[in-house]
Amino acid sequence: MTPMASIAVLISLVACATLASGAAGVRVELTRAHSSRLVGDALRRDMQRHSARRLAASSGDTVSAPVSKDTDMGEYLMTLAIGTPPLSYPAIADTGSDLIWTQCAPCSDQCFQQPTPLYNPASSTTFSPVTCDTTPSKLCPYNQTYGIGWTAGILGSETFTFGSSAADQTRGQPVADKFSYCLTTFQDSNSTSTLLLGPSASLNDTGVGSTPFVTSPAQALTHYYVNLTGISVGTTALSIPADAFSLNDTDGTGGLVIDSGTTFTYLVDAAYQQVRAAVLSLVTTLPTTDASAETGLDLCFALPSSTSAPPAMPSMTLHFDGADMVIPGDSYMILEPDSGLWCLAMQTSISGLPSILGNYHQQNMHILYDLGQEMLSFAPANCGTF
Ligand SMILES: *[C@@H]1O[C@H](CO)[C@@H](O)[C@H](O)[C@H]1NC(C)=O
Ligand SMILES: *[C@@H]1O[C@H](CO)[C@@H](O)[C@H](O)[C@H]1NC(C)=O
Ligand SMILES: *[C@@H]1O[C@H](CO)[C@@H](O)[C@H](O)[C@H]1NC(C)=O
Ligand SMILES: *[C@@H]1O[C@H](CO)[C@@H](O)[C@H](O)[C@H]1NC(C)=O
Ligand SMILES: *[C@@H]1O[C@H](CO)[C@@H](O)[C@H](O)[C@H]1NC(C)=O
Repeated sequence: MTPMASIAVLISLVACATLASGAAGVRVELTRAHSSRLVGDALRRDMQRHSARRLAASSGDTVSAPVSKDTDMGEYLMTLAIGTPPLSYPAIADTGSDLIWTQCAPCSDQCFQQPTPLYNPASSTTFSPVTCDTTPSKLCPYNQTYGIGWTAGILGSETFTFGSSAADQTRGQPVADKFSYCLTTFQDSNSTSTLLLGPSASLNDTGVGSTPFVTSPAQALTHYYVNLTGISVGTTALSIPADAFSLNDTDGTGGLVIDSGTTFTYLVDAAYQQVRAAVLSLVTTLPTTDASAETGLDLCFALPSSTSAPPAMPSMTLHFDGADMVIPGDSYMILEPDSGLWCLAMQTSISGLPSILGNYHQQNMHILYDLGQEMLSFAPANCGTF
């Protein structure tokens, strides 16, 4: 853990590269470092992000980005090379943010230690600063505050190179009009997840469902909203108020976003309580246990021993506008083998924030964000053999 160490002065970068002409697209590997304390650590990370968003929302700020260099937990990392000549850095793949940032040189005493040399914009032939509309000749500063610190710097444009090996390396543009990813089993640290950018990002799988993105009237936060209309556990449709997930057209509150950078799923309380009650009623053979201090999750069961297998659970179905997303039991219940705790990997969302579909619930699903068509598509997939 790196509590206050994540305070840093940074330059944030906005993509300027164009996709190499004729390229089929870009394939990037995503990895997730392993931690034995899956639950508590992932939740603490989510909470830091949540408090960041709350602050960002209350100050009317326009950016939101992951805060920490600590990469042990529930986040998926990609290799991103910055500048010309390209220098490689691990970066969190996060659809819940609209800012790319890294520490850069020169840096006073405010940078944290990192294994790679600091990116130096002065040494890159493709860096150029971005100017703000209001002050055309001035650099454009930003300062994003988080629960545990802040990141501040100037906005710039730069060339990014994706891929970890020379053969993979393709200059790409993250704002290509579509991208897809397939996240492997959360606890399986050996396998590699995949991110595809550009034309090769398409769902050839069977059982594809599609739902349109919903536009938020709030400019302040750039998120991928989708229209969730109901939830079933097994074959039982939960009695969730029809407007529970609706996005307020006036002030942009509410709604549900899909986010690769948040681990667990956060639902508006009226919906969360229904899911919690449904899961509780299905698990009749195990005692509940208050493990909120260790896990931060409020519905946990105690297995008789660390080698016991939890009972099989029916799938949960998220009913989106136009398509159902089926989430297997293992993708909404999380087992912490060391402690024998088995918990619902969901929580009540924080008041004033949208509901969030986190990455734990997206495992073994191929998910396509088609920005041109304004459509989210998804299909079950074995992401380990993708
Ligand atoms: C960024 O904001 C934080 C919190 O308001 C403040 O403590 C910090 O000094 C600011 N940093 C810069 C470089 O302005
Ligand atoms: C991961 O790889 C290690 C070393 O090869 C092996 O011991 C372990 O069983 C593997 N874990 C999984 C989940 O496949
Ligand atoms: C899907 O099919 C297209 C056309 O055959 C191909 O270019 C693309 O790589 C395929 N995508 C995946 C994810 O297999
Ligand atoms: C939407 O937001 C506006 C402005 O904050 C508020 O007056 C209105 O009551 C909200 N609508 C709903 C349905 O909550
Ligand atoms: C959400 O989906 C429902 C059901 O299809 C539809 O009635 C509603 O208009 C949609 N809302 C938005 C904001 O698209």
